[in-house]
Amino acid sequence: MVLVILLCIAVDHSFRCETIDQHNTVCFFNSKCRCWTDQDLRHVDCSNANMTDIPNFPPKTDILNINSNYIEVLQNNTFENLTNLLELDLSHNRLIRIELNAFLGLGKLQKLSLEANRLNYTKESFDTAVLNPLKSLLVLNVKHQEILNILPGKMIRKLHYLRNLKTDLVSSTEGVAFGKEFSSFAHLTLLKAGTCKLEMGNNNTFIYLPNLEIIHLSGCTISQFGKGCIFVT
Ligand SMILES: *[C@@H]1O[C@H](CO)[C@@H](O)[C@H](O)[C@H]1NC(C)=O
Ligand SMILES: *[C@@H]1O[C@H](CO)[C@@H](O)[C@H](O)[C@H]1NC(C)=O
Ligand SMILES: *[C@@H]1O[C@H](CO)[C@@H](O)[C@H](O)[C@H]1NC(C)=O
Ligand SMILES: *[C@@H]1O[C@H](CO)[C@@H](O)[C@H](O)[C@H]1NC(C)=O
Ligand SMILES: *[C@@H]1O[C@H](CO)[C@@H](O)[C@H](O)[C@H]1NC(C)=O
Repeated sequence: MVLVILLCIAVDHSFRCETIDQHNTVCFFNSKCRCWTDQDLRHVDCSNANMTDIPNFPPKTDILNINSNYIEVLQNNTFENLTNLLELDLSHNRLIRIELNAFLGLGKLQKLSLEANRLNYTKESFDTAVLNPLKSLLVLNVKHQEILNILPGKMIRKLHYLRNLKTDLVSSTEGVAFGKEFSSFAHLTLLKAGTCKLEMGNNNTFIYLPNLEIIHLSGCTISQFGKGCIFVT
């Protein structure tokens, strides 16, 4: 009898190590996070948990939400074992730096939010190759960084399937908001501006993004409109 009970505990324990609890309850691996399964997708929600470091997660996590914490740096290999991860939300943290190999392993990731952090896209903050492992990315949100700065095109040049980009926007007095390096995004159809200052809006503003179908500029201050409509391509 004792043996049977011990066996059950052992089996139960190994099961719990591999899966995420079925209900929206405290996760077995971290009491600050909540876990549940919905339509076969395993969710882990560690939002609003006062976290300053990113803990380890079970490899089978599909949707991971770490928003609204106090994380400043994403270190190399943080997500290396989350090879099934589809969505990652790191919005509303204090990210100032993302190390080169921080996103290694996230080859299936479709959706990434870095909204409302402190990234400035300098070499110290965000190496140009940081996003390269995200080969399946469809949706990228980097809007509302603390300092207004446009996401350099070279940082997303390997994201060939990108469809939906949310970013802060600035344009030069000539009107160009996105340079030539954006012209390879054949699937990019939706653009949403976060913090946005256009010195000039004209027929050059989106000239290198000819496949855009939807553009949200409601957060923009536009100082001048040039001759020629900005929406004619
Ligand atoms: C986070 O910290 C605040 C302020 O100290 C506290 O009120 C809150 O309960 C904490 N939340 C969690 C999930 O620990
Ligand atoms: C990934 O898995 C390996 C092997 O189990 C382990 O040594 C490593 O600490 C894990 N990394 C993270 C960030 O969890
Ligand atoms: C992160 O990995 C890159 C590439 O291997 C390396 O150059 C860099 O020094 C690492 N960063 C840290 C803080 O270890
Ligand atoms: C950008 O962020 C890095 C990392 O925090 C910092 O070292 C650098 O001074 C910042 N540069 C500017 C221009 O804000
Ligand atoms: C943009 O508008 C200017 C002024 O109307 C015009 O001279 C120029 O040819 C236009 N460029 C394109 C690519 O349509």
